[in-house]
Amino acid sequence: MEQSQDTGNRGRVWILGLESSCDETAAAVVEDGRRILSNRISSQVEIHARYGGVVPEIASRCHLELINTLVEQALQEAGLTLDRLSAIAVSHGPGLVGALLVGVATAKALSYAIRRPLIAVNHLEAHFYSNLLSDSDIRFPAVGLLASGGHTALAYIPRPGEILQLGQTRDDAAGEAFDKVARVMGLGYPGGPEIDARAAEGDPAAIDFPRAYLEEESRFDFSFSGLKSAVINYIHNLRQRGGEENLPDLAASFQAAVVEVLVEKTIGAVREKGAATVLMGGGVVANSALRREMRRRLGEECPGVELHYPPARLCTDNAAMVAAAAYPQFLASNFAPLTLNAIPYLQLWAKP
Ligand code: KG4
Ligand code: ZN
Repeated sequence: MEQSQDTGNRGRVWILGLESSCDETAAAVVEDGRRILSNRISSQVEIHARYGGVVPEIASRCHLELINTLVEQALQEAGLTLDRLSAIAVSHGPGLVGALLVGVATAKALSYAIRRPLIAVNHLEAHFYSNLLSDSDIRFPAVGLLASGGHTALAYIPRPGEILQLGQTRDDAAGEAFDKVARVMGLGYPGGPEIDARAAEGDPAAIDFPRAYLEEESRFDFSFSGLKSAVINYIHNLRQRGGEENLPDLAASFQAAVVEVLVEKTIGAVREKGAATVLMGGGVVANSALRREMRRRLGEECPGVELHYPPARLCTDNAAMVAAAAYPQFLASNFAPLTLNAIPYLQLWAKP
């Protein structure tokens, strides 16, 4: 099919973004890559909370039931009809394959129906674009830290539209470690906000948990499974001896170990790359200690380097970031074919 590249919008670019990679179904319209006209999100977190984590098949079914309604709501809120859109963008990976396919199939059908280009967006890259939606004045080159429930990665972003992965987690994502540790502590799901709240009353130096910095060639990779096991062993040993854990101290000490590694490696990447800015994204960026420590240490060790992180509703999965990430691709006419597929293990790619 010939896809029309005529926006018909007198110079304005209106991109509809779709997101269904995990447990949030979302649709949004963004103007010129920056201005959010609508941002509809339906979270399944309460459904999955019963099981203590995301159940892939339930997630796919929920996406299928919700996505068309969300698209309608996003268009209505933006005051647009389908035929006025410039392009349709979708997260095609990484994520749960069945979940991703719902967004990909929907985006393909819409693109075909309205004869507008289809744009494939890397979900990890999209997280960094949340910053461009809330802060228009960002200096590049930047180092990006993504810390969410499914991913933890460091990236070098020389300019919008270009990204190079520096490292990623070898095992658990930072948010996953928060969720698993919270479960053993008897706290609810998702565990990150629960640990964050308990930690506020605790002593971060109470228990010396391990920090994995890894060997030199893996200096920008992460590993949180050793820390997670150390916390679980600590709790089990204590309980076996008839003791009871001090939840605030435990939460604060675990959190301090995660935050120290995230901050230290980000600062290492800033120095090595001579970055002007740090962009953070992902659900864990809501963590108060991470924000505080990143700001403090950048201020002390890398004066002049700016720190940006999105407001809470743009830290977690949303479709506005997908539409924003698609904008440079739209300008470069980098469109996807209608044979586009979901890629569950897609990484942050290196572009020239
Ligand atoms: O970005 P997100 O919605 O999920 C993925 O795309 O994977 O992030 C969810 C993750 C969960 O693991 C949750 O526990 C964590 O972000 N999280 C936090 C906080 N708020 C959410 N982790 C630490 N501190 C928080 N305040
Ligand atoms: Zn995400």
